[in-house]
Amino acid sequence: MSQNHANVRLIAPHGGELINRLVAEAELPVMRERAEQAPVVQLSDVSLSDLELIATGVFSPLTGFMNSETYRSVVYDMHLPNGLPWTIPITLPVTREMADSLRVGADVALAAPTGEVVGLLELAEKFDYDKEAEAENVYRTTEDEHPGVARLYAQGDVYLAGDVWLFSLPQPEFPEIYRTPTQTRAIFAERGWRQVVAFQTRNPIHRAHEYLQKCALEMVDGLMLHPLVGATKSDDIPADVRIESYKVVLEHYYPADRVLLSAFPAAMRYAGPREAVFHAICRKNYGCTHFIVGRDHAGVGGYYGTYDAQLIFDEFDPATIGIVPLRFEHAFYCRDCGHIVTAKTCPHGKDSWLHLSGTQVREKLSNGEALPVEFTRPEVSEVLLRSTARQKANAR
Ligand code: ADX
Repeated sequence: MSQNHANVRLIAPHGGELINRLVAEAELPVMRERAEQAPVVQLSDVSLSDLELIATGVFSPLTGFMNSETYRSVVYDMHLPNGLPWTIPITLPVTREMADSLRVGADVALAAPTGEVVGLLELAEKFDYDKEAEAENVYRTTEDEHPGVARLYAQGDVYLAGDVWLFSLPQPEFPEIYRTPTQTRAIFAERGWRQVVAFQTRNPIHRAHEYLQKCALEMVDGLMLHPLVGATKSDDIPADVRIESYKVVLEHYYPADRVLLSAFPAAMRYAGPREAVFHAICRKNYGCTHFIVGRDHAGVGGYYGTYDAQLIFDEFDPATIGIVPLRFEHAFYCRDCGHIVTAKTCPHGKDSWLHLSGTQVREKLSNGEALPVEFTRPEVSEVLLRSTARQKANAR
């Protein structure tokens, strides 16, 4: 536990220490010089995002891309070799040709997709891996229709491992809500929030999301609304539209002094249960004590059971995970109750329940129809209608 200025004890980061691999100002010239002498590896969007998240401590206790021992321990056992829970491999894939050109023990300059050198890898190991085994264990499927598996199959065949350094924070896409774990921790301390619940999302906030968030907020001091803004699949709603929808819903329906909207610059893996644990651990590093896990968290298609992402937490010692998962059943509007319910809290049957599928939502928006107020706040519906109209105009 760390003591800080407002005398609020924040939850300890995963592994006890918040990792910082951002090069200090004074060290920059030396580090840039090292990078200039080194061969360059160009990072994908996902690897660039991983580098940033390692450097800013979101992936504490990781200090670099995983070596073969850590990788195997994570893929097959869901723990780091030191026994800490960790469910998603954080790796740097390159082509075999690229790997062959690099020397273990030497520096590798890391470049953004734009070509700009942004960091350094101290190459400690390069290793082959089995893509199908990784898919089967991490994603629970080897089918390449799964977007996470498709990405895995398309990437290079060799992983580079070693500690990393990032020269400076990237230009965030949403600067006004960009915050590192150090910054969110400082805000929680300043606001005196001892218990903070995080909400991961890659969707606009519908009434069911609002219900989960507010139920949770009744029990804790603050809510960190933490939309993922890294790479998502092409048919997910773009981050800029989502951010606009979060802002309107927060303005009209949430207490400003109890909610912090902040961006989570990670790539979506769609790994369902394993990603739920990973999402929780990252939020612990941001200083959150609780994490909402609803139905089919981080799922895609029909790959995971509705509550698999909740059940997986039972496979871990809660003390070593540290952040508390708040499990919620599938929530929806009940016409007879007149509010959002779950099967756990409502005595009425399916006939009273309002369900809209993703396809139905898209159809309504595409026809210029507002979504029902029982499903989505009118302000959010307007944002979504405007964005759908823009997309249709651009497609013409
Ligand atoms: S996710 O990929 O980020 O999980 P989404 O933004 O849809 O997708 O979900 C955010 C969180 O809300 C997840 O914990 C998810 O399980 C939960 N959730 C979404 N919709 C519902 C719902 N209708 N009922 C219960 N939980 C839900």
